[in-house]
Amino acid sequence: MRASVAIRKANKATATELAGFVPATYEAGGHRFSISVSTASDLSKHERDQVWRLFEENMYDFYHTSSFGWNPQSKKLEMFDPRSRFIIARQDDACPSNIVAYTIFRFDREEYQDVVYCYELQVSKHARRCGLGRWLTLSLATIGANWGMEKVMLTVFKANQSALSFYTSAGFLIDESSPDHPANSGDQTLDTCDYSILSIPISS
Ligand SMILES: CC(C)(COP(=O)(O)OP(=O)(O)OC[C@H]1O[C@@H](n2cnc3c(N)ncnc32)[C@H](O)[C@@H]1OP(=O)(O)O)[C@@H](O)C(=O)NCCC(=O)NCCS
Repeated sequence: MRASVAIRKANKATATELAGFVPATYEAGGHRFSISVSTASDLSKHERDQVWRLFEENMYDFYHTSSFGWNPQSKKLEMFDPRSRFIIARQDDACPSNIVAYTIFRFDREEYQDVVYCYELQVSKHARRCGLGRWLTLSLATIGANWGMEKVMLTVFKANQSALSFYTSAGFLIDESSPDHPANSGDQTLDTCDYSILSIPISS
């Protein structure tokens, strides 16, 4: 689908311009996290390795048993695509100050709408339930609002019950394009999918 004017403009935004809409720190549970925004090419090899390791730790079991399968090569190409943008959280009081959470997103045109597509949201086990996931999701909506996007979208495995609870508590609903949306219930092939597409509108 052809990119809209808004998508083309958003994709030209530099990491510094995107970072202007995200606070540089997040504090919760007695910890301070520093926040950075990057494009894929800004990341060092060490940072890419950390991003990948956290993904593997959190998601291997889900992918391995899913219809997607576990394919590190194609997943890395998707994650580190030149259009990918990263919001990364590092814990300031930990040594070394490793990446403890991140979201990867792209500005995309989906079903005739301009969206922030969240490709990944990963929080390391020890940093969960202190609001980082919610905060990163809100940051996606804030960035989207400033670049004229209409919603935040993502794909989640139906087996990932904790992520589903997390997104539901944040206000995400089954998107119209999701195989399990009631409007698509006549399509038997789509209905047996092991994932859902969720979205939340962005208020401008
Ligand atoms: C899902 C995930 C991103 C949530 O991140 P988080 O930083 O722990 O979430 P938050 O602390 O912001 O949680 C906000 C709210 O979401 C809900 N929530 C979060 N995790 C939950 C869980 N495991 N079970 C039920 N509800 C949950 C709660 O309502 C929570 O508020 P509360 O802590 O005050 O009860 C994190 O568990 C994770 O990285 N999981 C593995 C990777 C993954 O599944 N990513 C999503 C792929 S689509």
